[in-house]
Amino acid sequence: MRVITKIQDMQTEIINLKSQSKSIGFVPTMGFLHEGHLTLLKRAREENDIVVLSIFVNPLQFGPTEDFSTYPRDFDRDQSLAECEGVDYLLYPSVEDMYPHPSSVKVIVQERTNVLCGKSRPGHFDGVATVLTKLFNIVLPTRAYFGKKDAQQVAVVEGLITDFNFPIELIPVDIVREDNGLAKSSRNVNLLPDERRQAVTLYKSLSAAKETIYRGERNPRTITSLISNMIRSETNGEIDYVEIYSYPQLKELETIVGTCIIAIAVKFSKVRLIDNIILEVSQEIGGAK
Ligand code: PAJ
Repeated sequence: MRVITKIQDMQTEIINLKSQSKSIGFVPTMGFLHEGHLTLLKRAREENDIVVLSIFVNPLQFGPTEDFSTYPRDFDRDQSLAECEGVDYLLYPSVEDMYPHPSSVKVIVQERTNVLCGKSRPGHFDGVATVLTKLFNIVLPTRAYFGKKDAQQVAVVEGLITDFNFPIELIPVDIVREDNGLAKSSRNVNLLPDERRQAVTLYKSLSAAKETIYRGERNPRTITSLISNMIRSETNGEIDYVEIYSYPQLKELETIVGTCIIAIAVKFSKVRLIDNIILEVSQEIGGAK
């Protein structure tokens, strides 16, 4: 595995690989790798000649009061994990190399951002779309791998790839969870021990919601109340949102039917966690998968 810190060096390598018609699988991350990231790397390894992993904690996607400075980092550990997954290139640029001067152009996301994290984190998806536009241009991937843990990000990336004609296949990958159901996240290390126990309720409440839909409930408000009540009674977390939308359009639903997402965000003392489930729901009772 080669660690590359200079964007230009990565571009030279990529041009060489492209001239040999190699397929390139790309996994963009902010590091502090866990099994969620490693699952994306495994998929990329299976499906491509070359695997590129990027680690870059992107300041542009953090709001002024968010956790950019406390975002966990451990490059040495990440490097050995990447090596074990058979990564060919680890792109690890500095902020100065990625943003040498205030950006003269940035990407603004117009659709699918007026709800969920887009609503509570203004500018977040503009920062994500801007860094991914840069990374896609540097790495020129054949396929790019994203986790459904950040389902709104997947929807935004789908729009970015389509609207800007990136010749990239988007591969969404299922959420990886701990045995107790907690979705793996780099941010979980910033939960206090008691909060870590409470955080299990996020997935528990989503599973209860799924079960209730399965039994025939189709009213979104009944389902969001069920989830909110569980989170309020079983955790000290502050609910940021509990919402249900069509997926990937992220439009409001009068009735839960079709492909829909139930998504939640909860703030604990030092960290805000998100989770979701995506369901296919038919009109009939028992129609949720
Ligand atoms: P990061 O949070 O490091 O996540 C990198 C990728 O790993 C994302 O596609 C995310 O959805 C996926 N991922 C994280 N936890 C997962 C889990 N439990 N199961 C499956 N996949 C999981 O997302 C970002 O970084 C950034 O916004 C980025 C795309 C790199 C742009 O800066």
